Amino acid sequence: MKVLVCGGAGYIGSHMVRHLAAYGHEVVVFDNLSTGHREAADAATLVVGDLLDPASLASLFASHRFDAVMHFCALSLVGVSMNEPYLYYRNNVAGTLNLLQAMRVAGVAKLVFSSTAAVFGNPETELIDENHPTRPINPYGASKLMVERILADAAHAYGLRSVTLRYFNAAGADLSGEVGESHEPETHLIPNVLRAALGGGATLKVFGDDYVTRDGTCVRDYIHVNDLASAHLKGIEFMADHDGAHVFNLGNGQGFTVLEVIEAARCVTGVDITFERAPRRAGDPPVLVASSGKARNLLGWVPVFTDVAAIVESAWRWHQRPRY
Ligand code: UFG
Repeated sequence: MKVLVCGGAGYIGSHMVRHLAAYGHEVVVFDNLSTGHREAADAATLVVGDLLDPASLASLFASHRFDAVMHFCALSLVGVSMNEPYLYYRNNVAGTLNLLQAMRVAGVAKLVFSSTAAVFGNPETELIDENHPTRPINPYGASKLMVERILADAAHAYGLRSVTLRYFNAAGADLSGEVGESHEPETHLIPNVLRAALGGGATLKVFGDDYVTRDGTCVRDYIHVNDLASAHLKGIEFMADHDGAHVFNLGNGQGFTVLEVIEAARCVTGVDITFERAPRRAGDPPVLVASSGKARNLLGWVPVFTDVAAIVESAWRWHQRPRY
């Protein structure tokens, strides 16, 4: 198969590229390198371009005949999206419409789309399945939900097949050491905990210790990036004999508090990681845990990294020797 990976130089996209290459697929990456890294895409042909530039998309689709598209390009910082909603809607919604239009013109009818647990807003149940109400509380989550709606409409109108994967907390790194998580600024918990273990950086902050959870800190469902990648490939296989727009939640189905993650990192690194307690971060729901039964049943997806310590350990290998 020849697969276009939009955003393939980013954190999750770069793991996808390696996964596709390992299964013998031909991969072209389209990325504007705004947050991605050129080295992260070196298992693929890299085309530098922007979804907001329809001419560069037209030339991309004129130069290649793709069997399917995976779409990882997005701005994804919840806090920034609150202050810069136009930026988020333009990139995440208008950019995706440009991609969908280019696919339609080129006759490419299969898409795997990266969505997020942020579409649920403040959840009503601890375990979140696909039927849980979607009421995003920030422009980032709203922008992803808008695209989900567009994909449902496109299935009816144009016969576009799509699989939308709502990630819970993507974490970890490939064990090869060739790709990993490298964001600047870094807002995610596990990289910040590991930076603290390495020392020399800013003090680790725990945002909020007065939530109604077992130790007062937020509970999240951490899922390894390689497990996310395997779900995408299964998504493409699923579309071979399923038309329509399909949505799946992806997580391990088990929640860990911020303090439990820090404890796991202490065990993995052998460093007595210190932190300070800080006020709650705006927009953080107390508990987000996925029910991924649908992905397991319909896609045949089975996550490999089910232990949070193993996920942290894979990230630790990367953070000790990052390639970029
Ligand atoms: N946290 C800290 N200190 C840090 C970083 C994070 O205490 O330095 C806490 C957060 O407050 C939160 C938990 O650790 O309680 C996890 O935070 P992350 O930033 O790692 O991840 P989020 O749960 O905020 O983000 C994830 C996805 C987003 C998605 C969001 C939906 O990464 O794409 O869930 O709420 F939008």
